[in-house]
Amino acid sequence: MIESMKVLIFGATGMLGKALMRVWKQDEVIGLGSGDADIRNPEQVQAQVERVKPNWIVLSAAYTDVDGCELNPQLANSVNNFGAVNVATAAVKVGAKLLFVSTDYVFDGTNTAPYETSDPRNPMNSYGKSKADAEQGIVRVLPDACIVRTSWLFGAGGKCFPDTILKLAANRPQIEVVNDQRGSPTFTDDFAAAIVQLCRTSAQGIVHCTNSGDCTWYDFACEIVKQAGAKTTVKPTTSDRFVRPAARPQYSVLSPASLHAYGISMRPWQETLRDYLPQRG
Ligand SMILES: NC(=O)c1ccc[n+]([C@@H]2O[C@H](COP(=O)([O-])OP(=O)(O)OC[C@H]3O[C@@H](n4cnc5c(N)ncnc54)[C@H](OP(=O)(O)O)[C@@H]3O)[C@@H](O)[C@H]2O)c1
Repeated sequence: MIESMKVLIFGATGMLGKALMRVWKQDEVIGLGSGDADIRNPEQVQAQVERVKPNWIVLSAAYTDVDGCELNPQLANSVNNFGAVNVATAAVKVGAKLLFVSTDYVFDGTNTAPYETSDPRNPMNSYGKSKADAEQGIVRVLPDACIVRTSWLFGAGGKCFPDTILKLAANRPQIEVVNDQRGSPTFTDDFAAAIVQLCRTSAQGIVHCTNSGDCTWYDFACEIVKQAGAKTTVKPTTSDRFVRPAARPQYSVLSPASLHAYGISMRPWQETLRDYLPQRG
């Protein structure tokens, strides 16, 4: 365990990045948004990394609009894949360690039991492909990199599912939510705390990190409405009645075994709503 580190976060202005900036107290943390460095631009990335000379880089920056990625796969690839490799290349030049935030969408959703880190990637949309390609590109440049896959992120300071549900619930007596995609909701504050621990234990390789338990989006919506005391009825529907540009995996639950190997456990996703809802205000 290192005493105190210098950490550089790309994507600090995003939903997860804001949580990282809030929870990371133990070290010197410098956060960047796209206005400070566009990760598609290797010179801008290199200049920031050489200026800060961090011990760790956390790469949370990404083009995260899954349907937008489907409509513009070149943009998805240039930000999520080439941009990520630019950051890894800059990390190598200053001898920094790298933690790359990745996604459950690198999988195709055909499993019926939680995905292990050794399961093959087989993304079913452009966003997932860009992140899967980044995982492989990063490891070619920086074999010791830590790749942390998470899923269904929500938290303060970003566009997220609970916020959308509660905005709809405020205006509609009934909402329909898909009940045929299963995953694990993950609260940004909990995930950020796990990232801090992973960096401070010099984690390497692929790690799966979500809040514990799993549910469908319908189950998630029911729990949000219940805990918020909202007066709306949630009805289950199916993905084929709610067509979007990008296909989503039907099942993307990630096994916690790789996280437990670092002595980290995550609490049940239902408990996290008790902390998120008051933050939302
Ligand atoms: N959201 C989810 O459900 C989910 C699930 C699994 C994994 N993930 C992964 O978790 C990470 C964080 O997601 P999030 O939801 O917190 O993202 P987010 O709120 O959409 O924030 C994206 C961040 O990336 C930055 N960014 C975008 N394009 C950039 C570019 N070309 N150059 C530099 N920075 C750029 C943005 O900077 P500006 O705001 O300054 O433009 C922002 O800080 C991402 O890597 C994502 O792939 C997310």
